[in-house]
Order: sequence, then structure tokens, then C-alpha cells
Amino acid sequence: MLARAATIATLVSYALALGLSDQCTRALSGIATSPDAAACLSPSSLVSVFLGSSNTSVVDPINGWLTSLCSSPACSNDTLAAIVTNATTGCAMELSALGFNAAESGAKEQITVAVQTYYPTLRKVICLKDGDTNCVTQTLKNLESIIGPLSVDNVIQVVGKGFNFSAIPENMTCTNCIKEAYNVIKQDFPMLDDPETTQAIQGQCSADFTDGKTPAGISQSATTNTEVKQDSGSVAFTSSSLMSASALVVISGIFAALL
Ligand SMILES: *[C@@H]1O[C@H](CO)[C@@H](O)[C@H](O)[C@H]1NC(C)=O
Ligand SMILES: *[C@@H]1O[C@H](CO)[C@@H](O)[C@H](O)[C@H]1NC(C)=O
Ligand SMILES: *[C@@H]1O[C@H](CO)[C@@H](O)[C@H](O)[C@H]1NC(C)=O
Ligand SMILES: *[C@@H]1O[C@H](CO)[C@@H](O)[C@H](O)[C@H]1NC(C)=O
Ligand SMILES: *[C@@H]1O[C@H](CO)[C@@H](O)[C@H](O)[C@H]1NC(C)=O
Repeated sequence: MLARAATIATLVSYALALGLSDQCTRALSGIATSPDAAACLSPSSLVSVFLGSSNTSVVDPINGWLTSLCSSPACSNDTLAAIVTNATTGCAMELSALGFNAAESGAKEQITVAVQTYYPTLRKVICLKDGDTNCVTQTLKNLESIIGPLSVDNVIQVVGKGFNFSAIPENMTCTNCIKEAYNVIKQDFPMLDDPETTQAIQGQCSADFTDGKTPAGISQSATTNTEVKQDSGSVAFTSSSLMSASALVVISGIFAALL
């Protein structure tokens, strides 16, 4: 009980440090405590990202979250629409600071359709596996071998120094994982496949990088089922959904800070 209180206190202090408005914090907490969103986004398993010090790598916690996310059912379109509505309404102030006017007519609908359109592809990409290793995890570990541990402290330092991403060696940008991610995106969005892009990629990697074949050892770990709407009246708020709420606030804050 004490440990749980301490956890929540830690997470809330992160959220406060990020300076999100009360209204936005409440909206994001509401999203994470919503049984529909928690069931498909698994935010509670992200909590451990914030329990380590700012000096420890976030790759293992992210790996744990992806494992849980990929074995959970996909979010339904209704849930995605509810998430967009709640987030754009509650965080309108934060969004307008980023130059986005949520009150403008049709803006919310546009975001909703965009999220609903890209979400299935994004889920497939982040749930790819190479053997037993999640592809995101593998790629982040490769990156760590160049820039050091992906801890909050280190990333801020590296980004501050203006890291040269084109200095990343080819054997890390042309992996089987990245090839299959490219295949998945191209299958879902064929219009992105123009000859110029293909040529540039072939120049960076090799001609067979764009042949559309799934490399040996690559598999998809996302479950294919979509969540079934829960009867919200019967769901109690558990400690894990409270922790999810805090975690989601923190994550959103980090994304907001990076934008
Ligand atoms: C959105 O907000 C409504 C009203 O506060 C709430 O009932 C619902 O669970 C929320 N849904 C999501 C996905 O956040
Ligand atoms: C962070 O880790 C590095 C390398 O492990 C160490 O040299 C440094 O003292 C640590 N900093 C803090 C604040 O713990
Ligand atoms: C979800 O919404 C998107 C865009 O709004 C639509 O293209 C897609 O067919 C919908 N999926 C389902 C299962 O209804
Ligand atoms: C980044 O790295 C690439 C490859 O090593 C090099 O050609 C390029 O000049 C570098 N750019 C900057 C801004 O340092
Ligand atoms: C990439 O190549 C370098 C130098 O040949 C090697 O040290 C490194 O382990 C390779 N990385 C991967 C992910 O294959």
C-alpha cells in the first residue's frame, strides 16, 4: 500500500514538473482509467519507465510495455475517437501552444480519422519481432551501442549536442526489422511508394531492401482481435488503472515536450 502511494507520488511529481494544466492532467488520467483505453494500450506496464532514475535506460521497461501491448486486443475505432475527443478537449490549451486550434471546425474530426487510419499500421510496426526480440527493442539497443544508454539524462544531453543521425552505420539502418517495417507501411499506404523514395532507400541499403519480401526470422506479435466494448458501469478503479493514469500523463507530457 505504502509502495503504491509512493509510486503514484513519484509519477504525479513528474507530471507536475512537466507543467501540464489541471484540466489536461485530468483528461489524460480519465483516458488511462477508462477501461476501454487501458485494455488496448496497456499503460500500467509503462509505469516502470518512470520508476528508475533518470540515469537508467528506458529500453527494458519499453520492451515490457510492448510485450503487454502487442498481446492485448487492438483499440476499437470508438475507443480511439473517445481518446481524441477527451484529449483535444482537456488539453486544448497545451495544443494551442503548439499552434493547433482544437476548437476550429472539423479539426477534431480530422485528427480522429488520422488516428484511426494510422493506428493499425503503427501497431503492426511496433509489434514486429526478429526471432524472440521485439524490433523496437532491437533497434533501440543498436542505437544504445552508439550513443550510450537511452536514459532521460543521456538523451537530453545527446539531443542538446545535435547528434548527427546520418552517422548511424548502415548495419543498423538496414536491418531485417527496418526492412519489414518498410514493407508493412508500404502495404498499408501504397501511395507513399514513389520511385524517388525507393531509389534513396536502395542507395542507403541495397536493392533487395525494397523487394517486398519478409526477411527470414521476422514475425508479427500483435494479436488480431479488437477489444469488445466493456460495460463501464461494472468496472471498479483498481490501483493499476490509477497507476496507468499517472503513467499516461507522464508519457503525454514527454511527447508534448518533444514536439
Ligand atoms: C472520455 O470522457 C468521458 C467523460 O468524462 C468518459 O466517460 C470516458 O470514459 C472517456 N473515455 C476515454 C477513452 O477516455
Ligand atoms: C549516471 O551514470 C553515469 C554512467 O553510468 C555516471 O558516470 C554518472 O555519475 C551517473 N549520474 C548520476 C547523476 O547518477
Ligand atoms: C476505422 O476508421 C477508419 C477511418 O476513420 C476507417 O477507414 C476504418 O475502416 C475503420 N475501421 C473499422 C473496423 O471500422
Ligand atoms: C553527418 O554524418 C555524415 C556521415 O558520416 C556526414 O557525411 C555529414 O557531413 C555529417 N553532417 C554533419 C552536420 O556533421
Ligand atoms: C555493425 O558493424 C560494426 C562494425 O563492423 C559492428 O561493430 C557492430 O556490431 C554491427 N552492429 C550490428 C547491429 O550488426
